[in-house]
Amino acid sequence: MERLQKVMAQAGVASRRKSEELILAGKVKVNGVTVTELGTKVSSKDQVEVEGVQLAKEQSIYYLLYKPRGVISTANDEKGRKTVVDFFPEVEERIYPVGRLDYDTSGIIIMTNDGEFSYLMTHPKFEIKKTYVAKVKGIPRREDLKKLEKGIELEDGLTAPARVKTVSVDKKSKMAIIEITIHEGRNRQVRRMFDAIGCPVDSLKRETFGNLTTRGLNAGEARPLTIHEIKQLRVLAETGKIG
Ligand code: URA
Repeated sequence: MERLQKVMAQAGVASRRKSEELILAGKVKVNGVTVTELGTKVSSKDQVEVEGVQLAKEQSIYYLLYKPRGVISTANDEKGRKTVVDFFPEVEERIYPVGRLDYDTSGIIIMTNDGEFSYLMTHPKFEIKKTYVAKVKGIPRREDLKKLEKGIELEDGLTAPARVKTVSVDKKSKMAIIEITIHEGRNRQVRRMFDAIGCPVDSLKRETFGNLTTRGLNAGEARPLTIHEIKQLRVLAETGKIG
């Protein structure tokens, strides 16, 4: 839900200030009813009409970005660091990331302007699976990996069961590469899970998000999602499986 004047400004009706004036002047209808209250909130399902003209709906856009390390996944950064939005200079729509990846984490991030889709992809109840490849310091013991699989106690509670696979172990440097699949999206979750077993993450990449992979992209590159991929992701959220 967004404030009516913000929605009007984003649709190109007028500045927010001018939009407020239009509301106060009784020139705006929501679902056929004149609204003069500045606090009114609307969703994409509401029909907004300004001086008898229905608001043009912004086209929904969906991209897959292979986020490099050293990029922040918010729309703006007060420290002036590069953000995921900076990879889309040619996109005119207001685009934002679906969920977050840490500054130092690389890999898949979906970018969209579709709030409902973003909710489906990020709310833990829809259980969209994400696979991360973590290079960790130390060689995790079997029983520690089992703990990660079963669920491990973190300061914000027990994690949901995960799938964990050892990809490789380097006894000389005492490092291991572990693949872990989770469906939650708590802040710094994978890093905290490995911290909890005494094997801190050295580097982290999100390899898959639902049915999506970074295949065909280099770090810093993006591509639009296909209509089929978007549908598949919706089906995954709604039914837990594809096909
Ligand atoms: N887990 C983390 O620890 N970091 C991320 O960026 C994503 C998941």
